[in-house]
Amino acid sequence: MFSAERPLVIGHRGAPGYLPEHSLESYRLALRQGADALETDVVMTRDGVMILRHENELSRTTDVATRPEFAGRRTTKRVGKKKRTGWFTEDFTFPEVLSLNAPTLGTRIITLDTLLLLVAEESARRGVRIGLHIEIKHPAYFADLGLEMAEPLLRTLADHGVEGVGSRVWLQSFDADFVRAVSPRVDLPTMQLMDTDWGQVDVRDIATYADAIGPKKSMVRKKGQAPTTLVAEAHRAGLKVFVWTLRAGRDQAVRLYEAGVDGVFADYPDRCVAALREMYVEETA
Ligand code: G3P
Ligand code: CA
Repeated sequence: MFSAERPLVIGHRGAPGYLPEHSLESYRLALRQGADALETDVVMTRDGVMILRHENELSRTTDVATRPEFAGRRTTKRVGKKKRTGWFTEDFTFPEVLSLNAPTLGTRIITLDTLLLLVAEESARRGVRIGLHIEIKHPAYFADLGLEMAEPLLRTLADHGVEGVGSRVWLQSFDADFVRAVSPRVDLPTMQLMDTDWGQVDVRDIATYADAIGPKKSMVRKKGQAPTTLVAEAHRAGLKVFVWTLRAGRDQAVRLYEAGVDGVFADYPDRCVAALREMYVEETA
């Protein structure tokens, strides 16, 4: 049996080690494999619909490049630190996005609304509260385009009756200004994602506005090395630690769970479930 204190397995964009990321089937598979929670990325359409994608450029996973009616929308933009050429979600209405075939997703692009419904249905069916970690992608970029994200996000969550720690919904972003601004507006836990050197993290400052940190895994423990002090420092500051992204096998999962993290974002949720099963059966047998 698992201990009640055991850390979480979070299906990262579903179970993309097996099925296309951000597809309903991938999310369902993560749950069948024993994930406690799901992770998703949210970007905006021109008409303000929150859709699930890792990036706002559309051609990597859809047939937009073959559609003559959209040829004039191909353009080059700077998104965050990267310059990209292609077709961007903010230049398309939601019906236009829905009209795209997404063969590498195995389905059409889905909305946050749809995933919230799936989580509610599966929670009811299984008699457990499935967690959901929602990453808000590029909020400052979208706000500059007149597509502020906090308002539609909070409205969508309210429409689904999502509030309070008991809902097991977390909001997360790399954008510290966004996390600082949204935290006081919601009765939900928030997480500061980070991709930096672990020594540069001021956990006491983050603890003033968020409930957790989401470091990349090398900030917590590199292969063949002892853990850094980041997890201990974060826990002392009252922050939980969810680490991204586990793409290898059981050993990597064990290494990070042993470092004391509260959960891992996993591309292969079943491998992390197996690791925890070994670790926690031994402790509780
Ligand atoms: O949300 C955790 C992790 O997914 C952050 O990185 O780039 O995979 O969204 P990314
Ligand atoms: Ca993410």
